[in-house]
Amino acid sequence: MTETSPSIPVRIAGTGSYVPEKILTNAELADRVDTSDEWIVTRTGIKQRHIAADDEFTSHMATHAARRALEQAGIAPEDLELIIVATITPDTLTPATACYVQQNLGAVGAVAFDISAACSGFLYAMKISKRLISDGAFKNALIIGAEKLSAFVNWEDRSTCVLFGDGAGAAVLTRAEPGQGEILATEMGSDGRLTHLLNIPGGGSACPITTQNAGEHLATLAMLGKEVFKHAVTRMKEAAEKVIERSDLKPEDIACVIPHQANLRIIDAIADRLAVPNDRVFVNLDKYGNTSAAAVAIALDEANRTGAFKRGDHIVLVVFGAGLTWAAAAVRW
Ligand code: UT7
Repeated sequence: MTETSPSIPVRIAGTGSYVPEKILTNAELADRVDTSDEWIVTRTGIKQRHIAADDEFTSHMATHAARRALEQAGIAPEDLELIIVATITPDTLTPATACYVQQNLGAVGAVAFDISAACSGFLYAMKISKRLISDGAFKNALIIGAEKLSAFVNWEDRSTCVLFGDGAGAAVLTRAEPGQGEILATEMGSDGRLTHLLNIPGGGSACPITTQNAGEHLATLAMLGKEVFKHAVTRMKEAAEKVIERSDLKPEDIACVIPHQANLRIIDAIADRLAVPNDRVFVNLDKYGNTSAAAVAIALDEANRTGAFKRGDHIVLVVFGAGLTWAAAAVRW
């Protein structure tokens, strides 16, 4: 297909999500580390998070969310041509978690791979699959954000362990017919000068976990929270503005903003800077904490299923994470 060929419009045909059964409350965390429900709620807005069982992996949660999205889309697993899982907590370093999901679903005809863009991964996956569908390479795709962050948290570090949770969210993307909704614009960016602000330093080839360093919690999340906070507000605002402008929208046209669920103060700051009233901003981090790549995907599914927007409404998704990375999408539902 040449660059001048008209691109095929792409829509979100179905969404799904899943969180593990076990809930860990702020009060329970306060029994383990020097923190309090008051500190966590005031500084983050988080009240509880869901924690996966020992034998429940990222691919299991991803598969549950995927089945719900496929059911809503009315698409059979065998008809999938592309599966992308966005995760920083894969079941194994290789093969990709997407291949386990493919196996679980019996999606034998799909190409399956993972992407690592931290909390921004789900919208990176949306942009990649939108392009592959609109270029004519594939007819439909399954994108998933899924994380078992509880396996990569230092449960003795109060500055991080109160923030994160486990879960998965999914969406099915397919060609849009005239009159149907459409993904109008997508944006993504990265700044590799800021890798030191948020990372998991150990467990990769740079710092394998050995019997000598096993007690140092190197394979757990480390974050300079205040610095990350500042960049998050700036980058998410810029990314959201770009997709709003490219879609010829104004703030008053947006029925629902679905932001990354990391901190209520970040979400409030973005709503303020975008001039979108708080009642049009979807928040569920009180229930789940920060689930990284899964967060915006779970929020999209909950917003969809609870009627936070309706057919024809305009919504904006916007995310930010380690890398640093950021992304946004404007969608006519
Ligand atoms: O998902 C990827 C993107 N991630 C984010 O966007 C996260 C961005 N950052 C944040 O959300 C916030 O920076 C945090 C929630 C992580 C931290 O909030 P903060 O207002 O920046 O607090 P702080 O790190 O500056 O800590 C303030 C105080 C410190 O005590 P001193 O030095 O003032 O005496 C911390 O030791 O709060 C203390 N503290 C805690 N106290 C009780 C840190 N963690 C806790 C805790 N409980 N869990």
